[in-house]
Order: sequence, then structure tokens, then C-alpha cells
Amino acid sequence: EKGGWSSFMRKEVSEQPEAVRNTLLGRVVDHQVVIPELADFGDEELRAVRRITVIACGTAAYAGMVAKYAIEQWARVPVEVELSHEFRYREPVLDADTLVVSISQSGETMDTLMAVKYAREMGARTISICNTQGATIPRESHAVVYTHAGPEVAVASTKAFVAQIAALYLFGLHLARVRGTLTAEQLAEQLAELQAVPEKLETVLGQAERVGELAHWMADTRSVLFLGRHVGYPIAMEGALKLKELAYIHAEGFAAGELKHGPIALIEPGQPVFVVVPSPRGSATLHPKVVSNIQEIRARGARVIAIAEAGDAAVLPFADEVLRIPLAAPLFEPLLAVVPLQIFAMELAQAKGLDVDQPRNLAKSVTVE
Ligand code: BG6
Repeated sequence: EKGGWSSFMRKEVSEQPEAVRNTLLGRVVDHQVVIPELADFGDEELRAVRRITVIACGTAAYAGMVAKYAIEQWARVPVEVELSHEFRYREPVLDADTLVVSISQSGETMDTLMAVKYAREMGARTISICNTQGATIPRESHAVVYTHAGPEVAVASTKAFVAQIAALYLFGLHLARVRGTLTAEQLAEQLAELQAVPEKLETVLGQAERVGELAHWMADTRSVLFLGRHVGYPIAMEGALKLKELAYIHAEGFAAGELKHGPIALIEPGQPVFVVVPSPRGSATLHPKVVSNIQEIRARGARVIAIAEAGDAAVLPFADEVLRIPLAAPLFEPLLAVVPLQIFAMELAQAKGLDVDQPRNLAKSVTVE
């Protein structure tokens, strides 16, 4: 069943181009998004949405955080992302103008299910992003947009994550068209970027071996930090989550801008830090700021592993290692930058002799609150 791969996780990591391709399949027609599943949500209703609340747990919540940047930029609707278990117990402000979007690979996560039910009781309309046909959360929601990542067996989520971002991006672009916040030309541009992701994912996967060498070299590491900014921030947190889940190593993801407000105190000689570097072309303002963060931590002895766009030479003098991702518009970088982090965590766990498919204490779908 592993199709010749060493683990389900390795197989699922390699299936990411397909997961995105299948999630987009049939949903982009003539440079337009077509989501028949949302038929019940008429254009009028989508125009009336004042606020979107995304609820999810774990990796799915990080997919939601990535999508927040895109949906706000494209559709100009405020988006908040909340952990399902926090959402439900804090008397959230919900009304008929709030759209609640839940994200769950399994569609069975109890925390998220209870949050969806609660949102419905409070009068909100609900859409579920789910990878499992006929699961409970989609059945409890007003509509479902399925991700077509195929069954995910490994506990740590990989291909479902990229498929979730792809589905949320489709939804965001649909919303932008309905609300008239993007021109037809801008829409077509973003859709072309989205459709180019699978091929770029193939390129990133081609570097798996190099990431593996890096992981073996770091097998004794006790703590790893991850920095990112803008859409790179949730990716930093996802990289840290993967490392905790799989390799049982203490890991934290930070917003790079927050470094000077605390985390820089953690930097001591030899501390490995992954930095997700925004594109110098796409993020001309943020790129130099992140490069200067790298200089700051390097000056304090950090070992810097930069994940940077192909051709970005500014990181070279300061990074100990550079992992390259293909050129993409800023909002599409997370879909690529996450891959080396997944592979790193998996390889490090393997180097420690751990079971990457079934990490200790974790379950694929947590059906208790
Ligand atoms: C956790 C899994 O318990 O549940 C994570 O270990 C997953 O990998 C999270 O991201 C949410 O699961 P789901 O099925 O709701 O996406």
C-alpha cells in the first residue's frame, strides 16, 4: 500500500502535486472558479458576508491562517482564524452576516464538529472544507467544498494541508469575483498561479535528498526554531508542529517581526533556526526585513537554514544552508515552502529511529473533546 515508499508519510508527501491538481480539477473553467457545491450560497448571500471565522485544529488551522492573508487581500472581507476548542467556549460574536468556514481533513475531529454545531445554533452559515466524503462535519454544515487529496494515512498531515490551501484559495477567488474586488484579469492571474503550483511542487520534491542529509546531520538537535513573516508565519508554525509531532523535538514557530520582542533571547551559539524568506520580487518591503533578521540571529551564533526563492542571492552570505523554492507570487509561496519542512521533520524522525506514520500519543482523528 505504501507503493514502494518507506512510509505512508513519505508517500503522501510525494503525492502533494496530485493532491493540489485533483482539488483544482474541474473547478477552474475559462479563467473562472466554478464550485457547484456552493450552489446554495447565492451571490447575493456571499456579497452580504461581513466577516469570516475559520475554525480548525492543528495543521488545518495553519492552512486557515495562510488563507486569511489571501481571502482578505482578494475579497476584502475580514477573516479571523480560531482553534475550534477555543472558539466554542468564549462566547464568540456571531450573526447571520458571519460565515463560518471549518477545515478538517478527517471531518470527524470532535472539537471542530462541536464548534460547527455551536456556530449553527448561533445562526451562522457554515461551509466545511473536508477531505473525507460524507464525514460528520460536512453533514453538519450548510455546504462542503471537498479537498481531493485522497486518503491520508500518516498521522501528521501533509497532502491534506496543501489541498486545504488550494480549496480555500478557490473559495477566496470565487468570493472576490462575486464581490467584485478583483478584476477579471487579476482573477485570471491568480488562477494561473494556483494552477502552476503542482508542477512547482514537483520541483521542490526533487530536493528531498538534500533536506534528508540536513536532517541526518541535525539528528542530535534538542530544539529548533522557525521564523516566517506574512504567509511564511503560519508555515513557520507548521514546520515546528511537524517537528514536535514526528521527531519529539522542542520546536517553536515565530513571526519574524516578533523576534526582537522576545524570541531573540533564545538564540545562543549553535541554535538551528529555519527561516522562511519572502520573495525579493514579490515582497520587496518584507524581504530585506527578514534578511536583516537572519543577520541578527547569525551574529548571535544561530545556524541558519533559509528557505528562499531560487536566485535570491541576498541570503547567501548569512545562511549556513539554503533550500530553494521555485518563483511564485507571494501568496503561493507557502504551498512550496512547507514541503522542505515536512521532509526535514520526517527525515529527522527516521534518523532517530522513530515511527513517522504513528507518532507516540497521537491519533489521526481525535473524536473526543
Ligand atoms: C490532530 C492530528 O490530532 O488533528 C493533526 O494529529 C491534524 O495532524 C488535526 O491536523 C486536525 O485534524 P482534522 O482531521 O480535523 O484535519
